[in-house]
Amino acid sequence: MTYVFYLLCLCVSKKAPLISDLPMKKKNFTFSTTTVQYYFDSEFSYIEKLVPKETAVIITDDNVFAKHKKKFKGWNTIVLKPGEEYKIQQTVDVVIDQLLALGADRKTTLIGVGGGVITDITGYVAGIYMRGIRFGFVPTSLLAMVDASIGGKNGIDVGVYKNMVGLIRQPAFLLFDTSFLKTLPKSEWQNGFAEIIKHACIKDAAMFRLLQQHKLSDFQKDKKLAASLIERNVLIKTKVVVGDEFEQGARKLLNYGHTLGHAIENMYELSHGQAISIGMTYAAIMSQHLKHFKGAEEVVNLLEKYGLPTFAEFDTQKAFKILMMDKKKDNVSINYILLEKIGKGVIQPLLFVQLQEIFKQF
Ligand SMILES: NC(=O)c1ccc[n+]([C@@H]2O[C@H](COP(=O)([O-])OP(=O)(O)OC[C@H]3O[C@@H](n4cnc5c(N)ncnc54)[C@H](O)[C@@H]3O)[C@@H](O)[C@H]2O)c1
Repeated sequence: MTYVFYLLCLCVSKKAPLISDLPMKKKNFTFSTTTVQYYFDSEFSYIEKLVPKETAVIITDDNVFAKHKKKFKGWNTIVLKPGEEYKIQQTVDVVIDQLLALGADRKTTLIGVGGGVITDITGYVAGIYMRGIRFGFVPTSLLAMVDASIGGKNGIDVGVYKNMVGLIRQPAFLLFDTSFLKTLPKSEWQNGFAEIIKHACIKDAAMFRLLQQHKLSDFQKDKKLAASLIERNVLIKTKVVVGDEFEQGARKLLNYGHTLGHAIENMYELSHGQAISIGMTYAAIMSQHLKHFKGAEEVVNLLEKYGLPTFAEFDTQKAFKILMMDKKKDNVSINYILLEKIGKGVIQPLLFVQLQEIFKQF
């Protein structure tokens, strides 16, 4: 396969646009080594106030760049091919070459403007380039807004193994501009709802009911409704990560649907949202048997309501083998995230032999 990457190094515009005072909400969250500034209800142009153009390099992908060209005018921009298949070491190498060509140094700030693939790659490159430079994110997909951009985990895939190489390192800032969502395809809205439903399942029963009362198009049509849902999810994830940044305990809950999801994602070239939706479905069924969970049908119905796949045929043996390589395992057991009730996820250690038996029944 040939990988085509290219660099668009744009000239600085004659006159910088005037940035008006925005009706923006700023919140600071303190992690172990740094405080991250979150700008809600913001506008892309505000990043000029956070990073001078001369010291910034934006990393984005073809789709985001093509649909929001004007926004990038005057910024040094590296444009990558879109998609999970490019969340790999070769892309990292290319980005590093481009950074060197641009003369990026320790004073450079990288800004990832894109979906979760772009934020994961940007955070990773920022962590290793010159042993670590400053970075921030402007997430542009719903999934990246509610999940991928938050919490400092970043990295790349190695073959079928998702996020096998990476770091936990927090960005300096996160800027949320929901106007990006105007160009987001419906399938990507659906993917974002997979992580939102995950948060509802493990932490927020009231949000689960809210999602039941609405449908996806309500959020697409109503900017305020979407913005408040995004902020609610950002706060859920942030609170969990602040409490357990390095995943010793509660952060593991965010892996609901991800253990099986990650195993089948690259195996079947599913989108992240689709993969974890299937993972959440089977974890809900397992919860029914192991935790007397009574809401499995409700979980499945909600996923389907938001256009996500639930039950699927997959090679259980192969999935099990990939899962054994999962980063969250010890030698004999794995932490599986199950549900006790809607809004309450629990960490359940399962022996591999036990899990293999369960998988045979899928
Ligand atoms: N680091 C974390 O904590 C974390 C958490 C969850 C997911 N992830 C990772 O995030 C990735 C999935 O994120 P994703 O679904 O955003 O993937 P993505 O970056 O591939 O974006 C999905 C698609 O939407 C397009 N897109 C993004 N914004 C757009 C916009 N505003 N308009 C039009 N098109 C747009 C992209 O070009 C791409 O084609 C996976 O690699 C997953 O592992 C990371």
